[in-house]
Amino acid sequence: MSSALPVLLDVDTGGDDALALLLAMASPALDVRGITCVEGNCPLEQVVVNTLTLLDAIGAPPVPVAVGMNGSIIDDGLPPPALHGSDGMGDLGLPKPRRNAVDVHAVEFLRRTLADAREPLTMICLAPLSNIAMLLRMYPQIAEKIARLYVMGGTYASPGNATPAAEFNIRCDPEAAAIVLHGGLPVTLYPLDPFMQVWFTESEARALAESTSASARIAGGIGLHYCRFFGAEYSLIGDAGTVAAVIDPEGATVERWPMRVELSGSETRGATVFDRRSARQRDYDDALWKGLDVVTEVDAPRYRRLMASALGAAHVLAE
Ligand code: BDR
Ligand code: CA
Repeated sequence: MSSALPVLLDVDTGGDDALALLLAMASPALDVRGITCVEGNCPLEQVVVNTLTLLDAIGAPPVPVAVGMNGSIIDDGLPPPALHGSDGMGDLGLPKPRRNAVDVHAVEFLRRTLADAREPLTMICLAPLSNIAMLLRMYPQIAEKIARLYVMGGTYASPGNATPAAEFNIRCDPEAAAIVLHGGLPVTLYPLDPFMQVWFTESEARALAESTSASARIAGGIGLHYCRFFGAEYSLIGDAGTVAAVIDPEGATVERWPMRVELSGSETRGATVFDRRSARQRDYDDALWKGLDVVTEVDAPRYRRLMASALGAAHVLAE
């Protein structure tokens, strides 16, 4: 029997979600049981096309892809950020997908897949949490079939990116984030702090783009797109770092802190507020402030090697 960890991925593909999918699909440590799509980095329809296109381009097995929430639960979310390109995945010009999404809504797909699984499954959430929040609200009993949620979102000590205080995934759908993260489920949060620590240099991205492996060529193309967009000499692996933390938890420094999502602040809506005071100073009901595990930093060289090896291109790394 395979010892691979069974996982579900929730994505808004998205260039860096694409890198995460490349890593997850290539890793023998993971058994990807399904991929759910949600609006975020680009409109939902484009997220789905990008996800299917990517799976086709790497000749992936027929993993189910389900279409989910077309926006946030309450407010209007955020416009797609320009950084991912006009197609949301670095404008690589990949052929149109031949495979299709499954004919069931992502929330229902998640419920069925979790309910049918013999053991609880690990969920890797790389996007606004609208699908996951709907799942937990509609089928609260399904929580017992979730082994752990790895969530890319929020900030620990770093500034936000969508606003000065808030990270994009959480700011897109703060109510969804509150539903998922305040519920006491086993959560490992991968915030912007480690997200910003792992990258390929521009010349490594170029070497990836010229590689013989399809995965490496796509990853390199996406990396070069981000270098061009930012005028930078390096490009983050972003969401793929969250997948790396699932595959190789030894490479992540994790601390446990009570956390709540700010819902009402005019400048701080969507911020993740960690209570780093001493336990003595915490004068509130613990039922409100649930502890979660937060990745505060990662071993970047280790995750760079993990990513490059998974792409079949370990040789491109400068060190
Ligand atoms: C997150 O938002 C998106 O831009 C990325 O895909 C990542 O999931 C970073 O804030
Ligand atoms: Ca994402």
